[in-house]
Formats: sequence, C-alpha cells, structure tokens
Amino acid sequence: LLNLLWAVLFTGGLAAAENPALTFIDGQGAPSSKPLSELAQSLTAHDVSFSHPFLSGKRKTYRGYKLHDVLDLAFGKSWRTDVDYPEVVFTALDGYQSVAARDTLTATGGYIAFADVDQPGWEHVGRKKANPSPFFLIWTGTKQTTAEAFPWPWAIGKISRVRLEDKFPATVPRGAKKGSTVRKGYATFKAQCLRCHAIDQEGGKIGPDLNAPRNILSYRKRHMVRAFIRHPSKYRYTNMPDHEHLSKQQIEELLDYLKFMGKKKKKDW
Ligand code: HEC
Repeated sequence: LLNLLWAVLFTGGLAAAENPALTFIDGQGAPSSKPLSELAQSLTAHDVSFSHPFLSGKRKTYRGYKLHDVLDLAFGKSWRTDVDYPEVVFTALDGYQSVAARDTLTATGGYIAFADVDQPGWEHVGRKKANPSPFFLIWTGTKQTTAEAFPWPWAIGKISRVRLEDKFPATVPRGAKKGSTVRKGYATFKAQCLRCHAIDQEGGKIGPDLNAPRNILSYRKRHMVRAFIRHPSKYRYTNMPDHEHLSKQQIEELLDYLKFMGKKKKKDW
C-alpha cells in the first residue's frame, strides 16, 4: 500500500513539474491560472537562440512563447495602450517581485521560456546558480538588458497588471461624478501628466507635486496655470513639454480636476 501511495504522490508531483501553471491577475480582479497545456492550445511556441547574459554570453536555446502573445491572452490586446495599467509585475515562486513599465514590455524580443532546449531539466543560471524553471522571461535584443531596465525574472509563477488607481489612490478624485469634467480631467492627467507630477506625493517626481503641501490653484491664478500648461516653453527653459495637442476643453477639465483635488484639503483656500 505504501508503495502505491508513493507511486501516486510521485507521478502527481511529476505531472505538476511537467505542466506548471502561470497565474494571471488583472488589477483587483480574481486570479486565473493557466497550465502550460492550456497555453499550448492557444499559443505558438518558438525556439529562441541568443547570447545568454547570465551564462557569460554562452549561446543558448530556449523554447517559449512571445511575451506579447502571453499578455494578449491574459489581459486582451488593450494591455499595450491602456493608460490605466502602467505596470506589469512578475512574481517568482519564492515571492520575489520584478516590476516592469508597460512601455518597456511593448518592445518586441521578449519571450516567456518554458523549456531549456539544450539541457532538459534547465541549466541553472547566474552567480547563485538559480533554477529558472518553470517560466523565464528572456529578451533577444542585444540592448534588452537589465541595465536598460528590461526585466529578466525567472521561476515566474504569477504575472499581474497593476491598475494606476490602486498604485496611486491619492490621485483619484473620490466623490466626483462619472462623466464629470473632473473625471475627464483625471483621465487626461493620468495619460499626460502623472508620469512627471504627483498629487499628495503619489506619482511622478520630475515636476513638482501639484497638490502638496499646497494645491497649485490656491497660489496661482487659473488663467496663469492654463497658459503654462499649454506652453511652458514660453515662460521658462523647462523640461515640461508644451501641450499644443490638448483641446481647450481638455485643459479646462485638467484645471477642474486640480481644483477638485485641492478642495478636499480645505486649509488651502
Ligand atoms: C516630462 C515631464 C512633465 C510632464 C509630462 C508634465 N510636466 Fe508639468 N512640470 C514639469 C516640470 C519639470 C515642472 C517644473 C519646472 C518648471 O516649471 O520648469 C512642471 C511644472 C508644472 C506646473 C507648475 C507651474 C508653476 O506655476 O510653477 C504645472 C501647473 C504643471 N507642470 C502642470 C502639468 C500638467 C497639467 C501636465 C499634463 C498635461 C504636465 N504638467 C505635464 C514636468 C512635466
């Protein structure tokens, strides 16, 4: 009986090793797990050879799926353009997280490897001789290195897309009606401004925080801010780009959003 039990346990374990699953999480949504056998039904596998950065440049071949195909399958094609989801997080089986900007991942050349073609059972990589199975994100371009902010996570168990509103909750105009100018302004702010500007210390750090410690519209006149957003280059030599492509309406909506965010902090007014 014990032998039988062992046999069952052992083959059960083997099956999991041969058919590992990738778990996908979309924002706050429920996780969905796809075993390799299911990925294989929808995706085309490629053999990819490249000079391996974690094996001293040794020529190496893996079998894998294009990263774009995997992300299309998990999140739909809109993952490439949807400004609400600026980041993708790869979580390794040991919990290690690697965060990648969506704009980096849209580059071609990324593959999710699921087999080591040269050495079945996976050659271990890196200084610590880590086992990269079951899924390893690799890049074939010579400039697609970790130094250039391309992520190379191995032993991936989970891929999640991060929603901007979950990452920067302080930027959300809570209480503003759906479809209001404040909400529309927030949409433009997320797409055009948040990468450089923070609201209450959440967001980009290239430009000043526009709400902390004081809201910009509490110490600058609306017409000045309006003109500055349109053409900062007319006022200063600055790193802020001109925004000639925004409509008058969009700039008013941005101002409504900024004003709304300040009104929540009554002490400014
Ligand atoms: C590439 C980065 C970048 C982007 C994108 C950007 N800004 Fe700026 N912004 C800056 C920097 C840097 C400054 C401060 C330095 C300066 O004024 O030259 C600034 C300053 C400002 C100021 C302050 C002006 C003042 O009175 O001091 C406002 C308001 C502003 N930005 C609004 C916006 C809005 C709204 C957007 C989106 C439509 C935006 N910015 C997009 C970089 C950026």
